[in-house]
Amino acid sequence: MGGGTVTDAAAYSVSTFKRGCRLILIPTTLLGMIDAALGGKTALNYKSVKNLIGTFYPAEQVILVPEFLQTLPEDEVKNGLAEMLKLNFIMPDLPVPLILGNIIPAPEIIMDYAQAKLSICSNDLTDKGNRRLLNLGHSFGHTLESYTNFRISHGDAIAWGIATAARVSEKLGYINKDTANKIVNTLETYKFNTYLEAGIKSDFLASIPELILQDKKTDNDLLTLVLFKETGTVTLCKGLTPETITDILPDCV
Ligand SMILES: NC(=O)c1ccc[n+]([C@@H]2O[C@H](COP(=O)([O-])OP(=O)(O)OC[C@H]3O[C@@H](n4cnc5c(N)ncnc54)[C@H](O)[C@@H]3O)[C@@H](O)[C@H]2O)c1
Repeated sequence: MGGGTVTDAAAYSVSTFKRGCRLILIPTTLLGMIDAALGGKTALNYKSVKNLIGTFYPAEQVILVPEFLQTLPEDEVKNGLAEMLKLNFIMPDLPVPLILGNIIPAPEIIMDYAQAKLSICSNDLTDKGNRRLLNLGHSFGHTLESYTNFRISHGDAIAWGIATAARVSEKLGYINKDTANKIVNTLETYKFNTYLEAGIKSDFLASIPELILQDKKTDNDLLTLVLFKETGTVTLCKGLTPETITDILPDCV
């Protein structure tokens, strides 16, 4: 029982102790309820590398208790909201995460998002196919998290990463300007910054080629990115050269 940090580590321990014991998770953060406790990925950080050690070990039950969210700090709620928005871009039929005037999502909406994450993972436990769509915003977001040494919150990094993916998709001609603006405006409605602070932009851009290749979603130095297409839905784009992306990034961040 706990946030994603606790459930990732506990699930990893349970998956290896005596080659696996019974596992029931009770997430206490919004991100845990709609993401971390679902889908069977377990993780430990090791030698300063995030999630270096892990297994796939789905919990036999995940119990959602929305009352836990009443004590969750606002910044932590925002981390969960960023992941909900990501899911909503992947599955546009989901209800919007927040009803106007609410500061935390309603229990039935949390349940819808939890089911949505499960439905994606249940067909692709080991992350070889469509589950990789859940990386939307993460390739770019991770570069910003690494660059800022995790001073930026995960939610802020992912929201910025989604906005960057939208602008990159526009530059590559996959979507038009209106669609890109609509995606960015949605993120801004939830009070996420979609542009980098002016102070870090040039330094950050200089380190992007190295950071982006370090990211695990590379294949023979070619990038696989989740980008937007036509009507604003998302797709896995494979075989992009880092140069293609770094050339257009200055206009996208
Ligand atoms: N396994 C997966 O598929 C998966 C997916 C996404 C994220 N993660 C992992 O999840 C972790 C982040 O999890 P998180 O966002 O839940 O944050 P967290 O577990 O780090 O918790 C954030 C803070 O909230 C506090 N907290 C937890 N529940 C609370 C409550 N009900 N009221 C008040 N405070 C509370 C915690 O003590 C902590 O200080 C990362 O390590 C990330 O890698 C895993």
